[in-house]
Amino acid sequence: MANLAVDVIVGLQHGDEGKGKVTHHLLKHGGYTHCIRYNGGCNAGHTIYHEGEKFVTHHIPAGVFFGIKSIIGPGCVIDIHKFFAEIKMLKEGGIDVYNNVFIAKNAHVIQGTHAAADSGETRLGTTRTGNGPCYSAKYAREGKRASEYTILEPFLIDMYEEFYYRHPDASVLCEGAQGFALDIDWGDYPFVTSSHCTTAGAMANGFPPRSIRKVYGVAKAYETYVGSKEFQPDDKVFEKIQEIGQEFGATTGRKRQCDWVSLYDLSKATQMNGVTDLIINKLDVLHEVDSWKAYVDAGKYSLFSFRNMSEFCDYVEYYFKDMNVSFSASPHHI
Ligand code: IMP
Ligand code: MG
Repeated sequence: MANLAVDVIVGLQHGDEGKGKVTHHLLKHGGYTHCIRYNGGCNAGHTIYHEGEKFVTHHIPAGVFFGIKSIIGPGCVIDIHKFFAEIKMLKEGGIDVYNNVFIAKNAHVIQGTHAAADSGETRLGTTRTGNGPCYSAKYAREGKRASEYTILEPFLIDMYEEFYYRHPDASVLCEGAQGFALDIDWGDYPFVTSSHCTTAGAMANGFPPRSIRKVYGVAKAYETYVGSKEFQPDDKVFEKIQEIGQEFGATTGRKRQCDWVSLYDLSKATQMNGVTDLIINKLDVLHEVDSWKAYVDAGKYSLFSFRNMSEFCDYVEYYFKDMNVSFSASPHHI
């Protein structure tokens, strides 16, 4: 009987909440044996600073930086060419990839036709990585799994054998991509991605609900969104936030539209993901801009202002008082 212990990192907004940094911290201190990416593909970009060097990974989970077995899970889609480019980049950076990078046999592979269908100006402002068409093919039962590619053979892993035979006492960190507001079911459809960016999405990679120990929900003190819908209100303050917070996409280099945080949406994401630990990033950006605001109700009607960081933080804690979460805040530059 497996005795798995699983912690999940989940984005609570539109992606880019700083999950990579939290992942990095937990991997360093959490005693994990495995790290799994549980959704998405190369639409995600995790920026990781490791031993003074900057790495941007799209596919490969951050466990690889710590000599921890890192698996691209069955909930993911893979661009083979980009996967090997990433392997090369990590190898050149002195990271041991051959013993630590794996791909679940039943993950899906992005085809040339998927990438082509997702190129140019897309309706939703996608990352143009073939992500959506690949998931479409998967659900149409026309996709191709990683196990069909001999070139991937050295990396393939069977999740059942790994976690229920070989390592039934594994301690696993599940690393999510994107966030709740981009989730295929719970996001602002159709302005969403094609995968499940939730704790439930992590479980769908082969982990039973009772294996969950902690769910780390990651948010920013303000919101950002990349895509084609109108998101940023007409206020110069957001240009400042964008600049100070360096709000440009790690994958596409696009400017991220900004808005104040919605505490209503954040509490929805917190509850539906079963968050146990809520992490709010980039408070220092608002501190530098010296402006503290939050939407406190559904929709964008009730905007509260706060005089300073401590008033803002006190209010957020008060807002979440019945949700049984522990709080931590972290600045941009650590
Ligand atoms: P797709 O995932 O490339 O199909 O894009 C769908 C929507 O999700 C677009 O609005 C993208 O900008 C957004 N998106 C996808 N991946 C990320 C991410 O890692 N961070 C932020 N937005 C993302
Ligand atoms: Mg990102």
